[in-house]
Amino acid sequence: MSTENPVTAAPPARVPSAALRPARTVVRWAVRHGLPAVYLERGARHGEPLGRLLRDGGVRNEPHALYEQLRARGPLTTGSLGPVTTSHPVAGEVLRSDRFGVGWHWSAAPAPIRWALRFGDDPDATGVAEPPSMLVVDPPDHTRFRRLVNRAFTPRATAAFEPAVRRTADALLDALELRSAGVDGEVDLVETYAAQLPVLVIADLLGVPAERRVDFLRWGAAAAATLDPGLPFRRYVASERALRAMHAFLRGHFARLRRDPGEDLVSRLVGLPEEEALTERELHATVMLLLGAGFETTMNLLGNAVVLLDAHRDQWDALRADPTGWDGAVEEVLRHDSPVQITGRTAKDDVELAGRHVRAGARVTVLLGAANRDPEVFPDPARFDIGRANARDHLAFSAGIHYCVGAGLARMEATIGLRALTERFPRLRVSGRPVRRDLQTLRGFEVLPVSLRG
Ligand code: HEM
Repeated sequence: MSTENPVTAAPPARVPSAALRPARTVVRWAVRHGLPAVYLERGARHGEPLGRLLRDGGVRNEPHALYEQLRARGPLTTGSLGPVTTSHPVAGEVLRSDRFGVGWHWSAAPAPIRWALRFGDDPDATGVAEPPSMLVVDPPDHTRFRRLVNRAFTPRATAAFEPAVRRTADALLDALELRSAGVDGEVDLVETYAAQLPVLVIADLLGVPAERRVDFLRWGAAAAATLDPGLPFRRYVASERALRAMHAFLRGHFARLRRDPGEDLVSRLVGLPEEEALTERELHATVMLLLGAGFETTMNLLGNAVVLLDAHRDQWDALRADPTGWDGAVEEVLRHDSPVQITGRTAKDDVELAGRHVRAGARVTVLLGAANRDPEVFPDPARFDIGRANARDHLAFSAGIHYCVGAGLARMEATIGLRALTERFPRLRVSGRPVRRDLQTLRGFEVLPVSLRG
């Protein structure tokens, strides 16, 4: 359980009956999304950039002009929800500093908010952006969760997984090749490849049945929306339904693995010795995060890469001629069009940041996508250049103790998956208008029409 977030992390004092479920849903939405939405709407109406970014679909699709407006105001500026940074050094400092945590200081919130959080708390509707997900808990709980999963993502473990990733990519490409023989060879590359590869890889790694991948993709897409502040009520309800389905699946899956464990990470997590064992709620949070983070982000990386390389055909051709360039190309895609655009940290005490006072409890919004275009660090940052010498200095995987667990896996999957795709279909072209996902925190494509034969 979180040390930072005692209100939401603690079990509710009184478990309300199922009859109260709709009321709890409304209260959960109101406190987690409705209230921030009021501030964001107000900010958007007054032209405040963060409010516009989060509320205006058009700005969200192409956020970089707005990031530059924010950057012009200095390394740390004030937005609808508090301080905001677009600066690479300031973002890095916030993410690495132990003066900032990921939990919200609910204990300092007004009594009605604390009541609402307690009343609305529901293990079956808890998403990846709520405790005890490791993404939003501070040490010592974070250290405990992280230690348990790190073992499955060491460089050696990731390298051992490479042949399986290659096989999965090849099987998907075989299926695509059959389709390319069709009338026009046109497919949606997200549906047929960019989403499939990561979901099959993470299913394999976690020992969850690949046949359920359609459900995982559906649930993951709905759950990803809960990362965004100020979600409208209808979308929140759809997300909550998906989260409940995901928790129900996980409950059955854990029971199966307890009876019949395999060699996978989840079998290990359900079978931990008593002194290390996770509570049921912690287990759900950890596996749900790994499953969701495992494909929701990597699919964006693959789609963003194909669109960027299609728009810079000389670089596509250069990679075809010299595949050793793929590692650098993947870093440049992560920098240029970061799959995770936004994160945040809460000041544990009053702190000085970029020459400004930040009070204890303030939430600093860190615009990762903007920090990765900081001209002080990346010269001519809007230029897409697979040969950029310092592309790997990006913050697309964050920094500090919450640095992405799956960064090595994502890099390996993208390098193998993209190289295999371009070798099998060297003339592949984007053939229609790609449609962005309607998300704020994550950035990628929902639909990517391509012609496989060019
Ligand atoms: C392109 C692919 C990916 C990107 C861009 C990405 C990005 C990120 C970012 C930015 C964070 C930290 C957020 C913060 O600091 O607030 C994070 C954390 C995390 N990622 Fe990834 N990720 C990717 C792939 C993966 C994969 C494949 C896995 C899976 C297994 C994974 C599992 C996690 C987990 C478990 C955390 C939480 C770590 C912690 O809180 O200590 N990610 N990721």
